[in-house]
Amino acid sequence: MATHKILLLPGDGIGTEIAAAARRVIGWFDQRAGGGAFSIEEDVVGGAAYDAHGVAITDAAMALAQASDAVLFGAVGGPKWADVPYEVRPEAGLLRLRKDLGLFANLRPAICYPALADASSLKRELVEGLDILIVRELTGGVYFGEPKEITELANGQKRAVDTQVYETYEIERIARVAFDLARTRSNKVSSSEKHNVMKSGVLWKEVVTAVHAREYADVSLEHILADNCGMQLVRRPKQFDVIVCDNLFGDMLSDVAAMLTGSLGMLPSAALGAVDEATGRRKAMYEPVHGSAPDIAGTGAANPIAMIASFAMALRYSFGLVEEAVLLDNAIAAALDTGVRTRDIGGGDKSVGTQVMTDAILAALDRLSV
Ligand code: NAD
Ligand code: IPM
Ligand code: MN
Repeated sequence: MATHKILLLPGDGIGTEIAAAARRVIGWFDQRAGGGAFSIEEDVVGGAAYDAHGVAITDAAMALAQASDAVLFGAVGGPKWADVPYEVRPEAGLLRLRKDLGLFANLRPAICYPALADASSLKRELVEGLDILIVRELTGGVYFGEPKEITELANGQKRAVDTQVYETYEIERIARVAFDLARTRSNKVSSSEKHNVMKSGVLWKEVVTAVHAREYADVSLEHILADNCGMQLVRRPKQFDVIVCDNLFGDMLSDVAAMLTGSLGMLPSAALGAVDEATGRRKAMYEPVHGSAPDIAGTGAANPIAMIASFAMALRYSFGLVEEAVLLDNAIAAALDTGVRTRDIGGGDKSVGTQVMTDAILAALDRLSV
């Protein structure tokens, strides 16, 4: 039996293209380990699952996800499914995976590789050396709160409601993840909410403050309103180390942070569950921050780095293969150092596609591992 069981869910659009790149990289690490170290099962999710089964993810795929050591997820969605019922829209598959696997902690690192400091829309000096981590709460808040509905009013108008809900334990556990990670980095947490407008923000700030005072007084903590946080991210991003925030603010802030690194195509993420006391293991899913990129899907132009770096996070957080994770991160940097660029990171007329970028990363792995 393979040591590490991966469920690969390519999804839609460029999801299938970057999943092919991931398969090659996993294959490289499997070979290095002598074979049999990684097994890959595969299933459909999102629009592909809707087309095949009429749902965004089947119970059978959910069972595979539950039984895997890690899920590697491509991307879902696209115009083809714009009019399918809300409950079975492609994104519902992703949300079910997160919720049913209990993946409450979403780590979204934004690292500006030295070779890409000029690919950012910000000036080189603002982003060079950037290494920040957004810790996004992933199973609560307005994404899942009830009621969530559109009702018809007597006057012929409609009323739409989404509900932002957080309970103490949800804020405590995500705060602990942020503080623990900060201790392994620059020891600073910025907690971002809107306590000036939202009751959930008032509770968020109160609970983070209490967890900090009780358990993490050695870590530096600041509270920052989420709108100001967005502004500071593009003004002086290097002031941040770890940013912890709710589900919706985390979604927004991580797309903003992506541009600090050069492209949304660069940002990986890890969605982690609680550590099981008995086994020491945790459920996990690894996914690029970007979506299915319908505008470039099918052209072979997608940047595979967010996906490949997501596998690096799996090596680190699920498989305990930290040395291999560092090797893969270094190979991505080394490939970029050779000047190879997809279009999204400034390749211009000399842009390469998904396959050539993956070739370059595999070649760098070969070079760095001798
Ligand atoms: P998107 O992230 O798919 O694309 C935004 C822009 O970034 C596009 O111009 C796209 O070409 C570019 N881009 C994204 N990833 C890239 C890559 N790897 N290489 C090169 N360029 C890349 O966001 P969108 O267009 O707003 O959404 C499209 C669909 O994806 C929607 O249905 C949305 O719901 C879905 N989505 C899914 C996920 C996910 O599955 N995790 C995440 C975000 C959006
Ligand atoms: C993300 C995506 C998802 C989210 C969508 C596709 C449900 O935008 O992972 O950032 O909003 O969480
Ligand atoms: Mn998003």
